[in-house]
Amino acid sequence: MNREDFPMLKNDIIYFDNGATSLKPKTVIDKMVDYYENYSANAHRGDYDISYKVDMEYEKTRDLVAKFINAQDKEEIVFTSGTTESLNMIATGFFANIIEPNDEILITTSEHASNVLPWFRLENEYGCHVKYIPLDSNYHVTLDNVKKAVTPQTKIISLAHITNVIGDIRPIKEICKFAHEHDIFVVVDGAQSLPHIKVDVQDLDCDFTAFSAHKMYGPTGLGVLYGKKELLDNLEPINLGGGMNESFDSPMEIILKDVPTRLEAGTPNIASVIAFSESINYLNKIGMDKINERELHLRNYLVEKLVKIPHIDIINLEADSGIVTFNVNDIFAQDVAYYLNKYNICVRAGNHCAKILKNNTNVNNTIRVSLAFYNTESEIDMLIELLKDKDKIMKEMI
Ligand code: ALA
Repeated sequence: MNREDFPMLKNDIIYFDNGATSLKPKTVIDKMVDYYENYSANAHRGDYDISYKVDMEYEKTRDLVAKFINAQDKEEIVFTSGTTESLNMIATGFFANIIEPNDEILITTSEHASNVLPWFRLENEYGCHVKYIPLDSNYHVTLDNVKKAVTPQTKIISLAHITNVIGDIRPIKEICKFAHEHDIFVVVDGAQSLPHIKVDVQDLDCDFTAFSAHKMYGPTGLGVLYGKKELLDNLEPINLGGGMNESFDSPMEIILKDVPTRLEAGTPNIASVIAFSESINYLNKIGMDKINERELHLRNYLVEKLVKIPHIDIINLEADSGIVTFNVNDIFAQDVAYYLNKYNICVRAGNHCAKILKNNTNVNNTIRVSLAFYNTESEIDMLIELLKDKDKIMKEMI
């Protein structure tokens, strides 16, 4: 990894908001520009050379993604607009058809809105119940707590693999094993895990996984829905339109294509799909184990310094990812973010879309540093210097 690979890092900024979106290597940007400048045709529709090239490049990315997560088949990879759309498709296109009144859906209070609201909608529309797996004192999920929360009515467990505020890694493999022994489906929100740790969907044995390209050093507006083939075959498309049907002669005579095409109606986000291949290549070149090791090193480096500052409260001391969430005593989180912004340091402040986590933490707003492998110790030193002096923060924050 070379910081020179990331054009954004040439600007005078310290970027600590990788949980929101990550920076893009030049190879990804170049790939996208190459598509727009040299073979900008539609996918799966043309009978000329450049449209054929688009099809090849588009499907090449699907292949790369399948291998990256060790899916059994590239047909298990559906391109969507992001994790949010993927999770909504799962809830509305698959589970809405099989959920029954009084069935239970288990989530936690630390899920992102995208892994809460689609399930709330099912509760409101179908009379099933969303319940919460209790978090332990570190706000983590344990297999024991999953076991305690499961009842004969539990139909779905839907969890982030790594949560976006607490940054804990959930024991998904063990949860899947237990869930499947009890005929429970497991949905994984992989938005914060895919960019940072090795994810092998066959090893985890999850039923569905959703993730976003833009958090994986790829383009915005693109996500992935992974599903076991037999489940995707039963996922009803939310969008009907061009590209996904074989024929339609009347309302009674509609024949749809097979998955994944059936689930990608209309012109897809071709440029992003094609450029995403370079993100996967980039990650593969470094290796997910190395990325994880580097980010954990940076996390420890940051936390060791933060704990020495008496006016800082760390919310997730025990997390095992590059997410570090904290507050400066008596100062509103957003004010600290504005203060850091004056020094070109980008952090996120607020509730980070995890709006019911406060039920556990009793804290409404926090400052979040979310690290990536291209961050450095000296960037962290700069942050620490600025946080050390509470008077300076008070003076400069507005
Ligand atoms: N889900 C993104 C975050 O955690 C936007 O910041």
